[in-house]
Amino acid sequence: MTSRKPMIAGNWKMHNTIKESMELVKGLGEEIKDLDKNAMPEVVLAPVFTSLSSVNDKLVECGCKKMVLASQNCYYEPKGAFTGEVALSMLKEFESLEYVIIGHSERRQYFGESDEMINKKAIAILANGLKPIICCGETLEQREQGVTDSHIQKQITTALNEISAEDTAKSVIAYEPIWAIGTGKTCDSTEANRVIKMIRETVKNLKGENAANSMRILYGGSVKPETIEEQMAQSDIDGALVGGASLKADSFAKIIKGAMVKAAV
Ligand code: PGA
Repeated sequence: MTSRKPMIAGNWKMHNTIKESMELVKGLGEEIKDLDKNAMPEVVLAPVFTSLSSVNDKLVECGCKKMVLASQNCYYEPKGAFTGEVALSMLKEFESLEYVIIGHSERRQYFGESDEMINKKAIAILANGLKPIICCGETLEQREQGVTDSHIQKQITTALNEISAEDTAKSVIAYEPIWAIGTGKTCDSTEANRVIKMIRETVKNLKGENAANSMRILYGGSVKPETIEEQMAQSDIDGALVGGASLKADSFAKIIKGAMVKAAV
């Protein structure tokens, strides 16, 4: 039996003005207001940088602690001449911000984020008392070539370099096959579970059994209200990183509710 608390994280990507973000968080608050917090998965929202402040204020004001925040990115240097970047000390100003997503395939693909950079970010995030959500996953081409596992092992091994077992246990990994992101083609649940087990085994070999058993590993890629229950029924899937379906209060709330059976175990 696992004691890992399930997590449902909504990655809003480059969507929503401040006004739209506030409408979404308000709608979500309505949808989940009657849910028992203890039976709920941990719910994480990752708005764009410009909306973080307003959404944070709203969550602090409501005081229910049913949702926390993640940033979609950060830079690893503490401050300085890095135009356009955001430091962890600035993200820490938001009381409800606990996580930082790093290594999303869109950041790797469009913004040149390398495994080494992701490792530096993970180290800086943990040193600042926050927790990384480290994304990994293969392209369709890599899957067809049969190199899915070795590719992901390399991503994870580099990302966790020089991170202690204790810090690894606090970190979250999101397995997101790139061909499943935003395409509507969800990865088969048993295959997603197989890859996630392989990731856990990799973490065990690197950091030991305790870290591997404590660390939450999510699945991401076209998660929908219709798929979540089957995904959560898998032994090693601890939750979901949700893109498109997190942009509507009703569909995201259905995903949260679909993860509640496992959360209550
Ligand atoms: P999707 O995005 O749910 O829209 O496929 C997932 C993600 O990129 O995190």
